[in-house]
Amino acid sequence: MKRCARVIGSGGYLPETIRTNEDISKLVDTSDSWIVERTGIKTRRIAGEDETAASMAEIAARQAIEMASIEAGEIDLIIVATGSPDRVYPSTGCILQHRLEIQQCVAFDVQAACSGSIFAMSIADQYIKTGAADKVLIIGSEICSRLIDWTDRGTCILFGDGAGAVLLESTDEPGILSTHIHSDGGFEDLLYCPNPQVATASAKDEKGVITMKGNEVFKVAVNTLGRIVDETLATNNLDKSDIDWLVPHQANTRIIAATARKLKMSMDQVVLTLENQGNTSSASVLLAFNEAIRDGRIKRDQIVLLEAFGAGFTWGSALIKY
Ligand code: UT7
Repeated sequence: MKRCARVIGSGGYLPETIRTNEDISKLVDTSDSWIVERTGIKTRRIAGEDETAASMAEIAARQAIEMASIEAGEIDLIIVATGSPDRVYPSTGCILQHRLEIQQCVAFDVQAACSGSIFAMSIADQYIKTGAADKVLIIGSEICSRLIDWTDRGTCILFGDGAGAVLLESTDEPGILSTHIHSDGGFEDLLYCPNPQVATASAKDEKGVITMKGNEVFKVAVNTLGRIVDETLATNNLDKSDIDWLVPHQANTRIIAATARKLKMSMDQVVLTLENQGNTSSASVLLAFNEAIRDGRIKRDQIVLLEAFGAGFTWGSALIKY
């Protein structure tokens, strides 16, 4: 029997503090109506002073472990996707492993910006298919609010903090049907976050904040996500109508609506969380997936398409029979 990866648990965490569009309009020249109309975002969560990517990841991870009814010690591999790690090293994965009191498992981070959790899922899928791991914990956890220039209206309206988790297990039944991941480093200048501490002398003065040419990113994102939908359907010999749910990266409602149109899907089949979460980068797809699993929208045996696009550029999808 062919080995496959099946979802056995999920979790999500959002910090308590809510920052509204109204709050942001006191910081920069913007308005609630502009932000809602152009992005779909109304509020986002901001991590508390003592919270980190690892502390938020732990809460999401424990929820997933509980849902799966397993012991943390059964996990073979932890992959944390984050662009806002607690430390340069050790990895947030190792910090999380310690927090979960797991003595023996492999743990590492993946850096693929907003596509991170899809990249992590693809890696986990390969580990499970080859028999290298049986149970894999995937996390996307981000404190975007600390990488934001709160005087830049092009970015500060978009991002939020949070963590999502998924637990995968090996099975003989269909689970993850396929994953598709891509990178093109040629777009570095359109979306990046400098690290001034390790920058060359000429780049030392750059601030360590998210820097984005939003409109240009938008156009590439719409086209690229359209292509990944075609690629995913073709690989699985499926038709658009075979997809029950779209769980997209939550960057902008207009980007998501374009992908839904491409799939000829009603927005009722799209899991949307960005209205009250904003763009939580690598956490966003897993937060949305978790929400729709827990509220019963996504049911066993349904076909779910997860997709994301982010800095790099990186992009990817995962087609899952839940
Ligand atoms: O998650 C990783 C990938 N990231 C994304 O996918 C983000 C993609 N980009 C976007 O979501 C959108 O490009 C933004 C929401 C960032 C911007 O929306 P847009 O419709 O592309 O606006 P724009 O940059 O073309 O700007 C249109 C106008 C400009 O004014 P003028 O030149 O027409 O007078 C901007 O100066 O809107 C102005 N503007 C704003 N006005 C009020 C830009 N930002 C704001 C703002 N409030 N926050």
